[in-house]
Amino acid sequence: MCGIVGAIAQRNITPVLIEGLKRLEYRGYDSCGLALRIDGELQRARSTSRVADLEKQVADTQQSGVLGIAHTRWATHGAPTSNNAHPHFSRGRIALVHNGIIENHDELRAELKTLGFTFESQTDTEVIAHLVEHLYAGDLCEAVKQAIKRLTGAYAIAVICRDEPNRMVGARAGSPLIVGVGKGENFLASDAMALAGTTDQIIYLEEGDVVDLNLNDYHITDVYGKPVKREVRSVQAYTAAAELGPYRHYMQKEIFEQPRAIADTLEGVEGIVPDLFGDQAAVVFKKIDSLLILACGTSYYAGLTAKYWLESIAKIPVNVEIASEYRYRDSVPNPNTLVVTITQSGETADTLAALRHASEQGMKHTLTICNVATSAMVRECALAYITRAGIEVGVASTKAFTTQLAALFLLTLTLAKMKGRLTAEQETEHLRAMRHLPVAISAALALEPQIIAWAESFARMENALFLGRGVHYPIALEGALKLKEISYIHAEAYPAGELKHGPLALVTEEMPVVTIAPNDDLIDKLKSNMQEVRARGGQLFVFADADSRIMPSEGIHVIRLPEHYGMLSPILHVVPLQLLAYHTALVRGTDVDKPRNLAKSVTVE
Ligand code: M6R
Repeated sequence: MCGIVGAIAQRNITPVLIEGLKRLEYRGYDSCGLALRIDGELQRARSTSRVADLEKQVADTQQSGVLGIAHTRWATHGAPTSNNAHPHFSRGRIALVHNGIIENHDELRAELKTLGFTFESQTDTEVIAHLVEHLYAGDLCEAVKQAIKRLTGAYAIAVICRDEPNRMVGARAGSPLIVGVGKGENFLASDAMALAGTTDQIIYLEEGDVVDLNLNDYHITDVYGKPVKREVRSVQAYTAAAELGPYRHYMQKEIFEQPRAIADTLEGVEGIVPDLFGDQAAVVFKKIDSLLILACGTSYYAGLTAKYWLESIAKIPVNVEIASEYRYRDSVPNPNTLVVTITQSGETADTLAALRHASEQGMKHTLTICNVATSAMVRECALAYITRAGIEVGVASTKAFTTQLAALFLLTLTLAKMKGRLTAEQETEHLRAMRHLPVAISAALALEPQIIAWAESFARMENALFLGRGVHYPIALEGALKLKEISYIHAEAYPAGELKHGPLALVTEEMPVVTIAPNDDLIDKLKSNMQEVRARGGQLFVFADADSRIMPSEGIHVIRLPEHYGMLSPILHVVPLQLLAYHTALVRGTDVDKPRNLAKSVTVE
């Protein structure tokens, strides 16, 4: 999604802005731009290509300044053209960048036109720039405060003014914005990652905050206009995490980081206790009789996997809902439900809205499984389990997914124990298996050479089917999502038992059928489904395990994981699927870390 960087300093800040935009590229964008105050005027450069192109434009024209804002745009209102790229100017006096969506932009645009403003873009953002200009009476911060009162929707903005050389103003509601605190210089950004290498002193602004920055100071007011102090946090980890190291892509790096990510996520877990999820977890968990899991994309598939665990081990009923559907549908609220949001970023607009919708319906017991401790989701949920995947840069989620699964398995054990459904022996055995996961995942990663060989034939296909049964059906869904997301091969996943109810019609020799086939209770049923595929000439690509007793033969290609890993097998079986998607995308030459049309944090609806 869109990204913001802003800087006020006593040095040329062009490199800071460009470097910041480069660090935000992972979020996904289709145009970019920056504005600087130079010799008492606002000047701008914009590109519908990559940040590298913007960097070249700026270098060619030797633009430099001490006050500036920059942006990567992911188009929502208006095509990704140069005119629609940010920053937007108003009458040469105001420059503004914006993340989010202004819902009442049509009405404001009409009003501003009658006041004589002309529009050069189709964006909702240009409306804010003109509004600030219209309300400007010599005090930029005051004009911004007045302007945001008129906005409906979500925004994070950074604004500068030609007439105020020592000032930059930011505001947020519904979209994240941070302040980077430097020595004799200050910064704004949508994400701390943008400022890695510039400053590690970060303030996470809260909903409704407005910040007024100058060289040496900053002043924050809250949603009621009252001056407030916000904590300055140290985020050194970002600098190292942002480096690619020996890997070719962040996705590859993140796949191979999974043993470490799982170990970190489980660090400090000595036994199964509710406190793992927060001080109040014991009280809350005693009151609840069911779970409602809300999430999007890969995180939703983590939720689907957890449903199998929770209903089987803890015997607690679970509903898993796609957040963007749940937020708008009539449902029957149950105040004794634990609402669990799953989100890597903690900023996904649909998941946040679904959480708020559940809360408005009277469901106040809330827990998030999240990878970003400072995110809106963690702030808004009563309980939290913070996964320690480390920052995930590749748009395709990998280590975030497996760490979410580890946290969800802990939740399952915790609820089972509290409900008297977990013996001491079972607890010990499950914990032992969890602690062994990093080693088991390393063994799955060692299958890479065999997967590379498969990727060559996959790369020639335009369609693929993924099959799984039981707790491995969500893993099939995740495998198909990974493949379509980064290789652009059309991929669908089905519970294998559904095959004969429709999708079997698609099976020909041209259709690779990826089958997740561990030696679980459903293996014999799955083998019958595999025969249905072979009888129609379909090519099976089977991820079995050492115990599945599936032999390679004509049309049946087999990669074998180590011995069956019981309930935790989904965490292992997703790893080769991630590698298959990655290597297939490599052969096809797609932009693995920044697939077309997609964004890392989906902070708009
Ligand atoms: O940050 P979140 O976990 O809330 O993001 C949810 C989805 O947007 C995300 O998982 C998406 O599906 C991934 N790109 C899939 O790889």
